[in-house]
Amino acid sequence: MFPAAALALACKIIMRKILSNSVEETQKIGQKMGERFKGGEIIFLSGILGAGKTELIRGIAKGLGIKSRITSPTFNILRVYDIPNGGKLYHFDCYRLKKYSDLIELGWEEILTDPNFIIVLEWPECIADKDVTEIAEKKIVFIEIKIENNKRFIKIDER
Ligand SMILES: Nc1ncnc2c1ncn2[C@@H]1O[C@H](COP(=O)(O)OP(=O)(O)OP(=O)(O)O)[C@@H](O)[C@H]1O
Ligand SMILES: [Mg+2]
Repeated sequence: MFPAAALALACKIIMRKILSNSVEETQKIGQKMGERFKGGEIIFLSGILGAGKTELIRGIAKGLGIKSRITSPTFNILRVYDIPNGGKLYHFDCYRLKKYSDLIELGWEEILTDPNFIIVLEWPECIADKDVTEIAEKKIVFIEIKIENNKRFIKIDER
């Protein structure tokens, strides 16, 4: 077996790279993910300004059955949406944050005690002074949206 694949299997890491040709495709990919979430997932979304992170989250919200329009929380940093089947979707945009403790001030630790949370977090780079993988016993998904030759590639890394 290819060594990297063997290592990924050993570490229970699932990696996928999906091409998206349009906003609709990005949202559809998000929707499929959202449909599979059970609660307790934390999704870190990286990618340059305008990569499509919020569009993917719109799809995730749709997959969770959320009807309200998802707007970018850049200025308020956090928006919370009720999930029809129970629980809440917490949408963070950390672009304006400088460190992990800024997130704590927004109630991060209390949110983690909510058993049904689903967290989507844009710009994890801004709070990277703490190793987020230390958040024990939570399902963490890292997503990176890359633009190559005008095409979006959505790299999903589950662990
Ligand atoms: N395949 C695609 N997937 C997603 N968005 C696309 C795609 N092609 C073009 N776009 C456009 O790119 C933009 C993505 O905007 P979006 O707000 O989702 O980016 P973002 O990564 O959240 O940016 P920010 O870091 O500013 O929050 C939209 O204007 C959308 O129309
Ligand atoms: Mg955004």
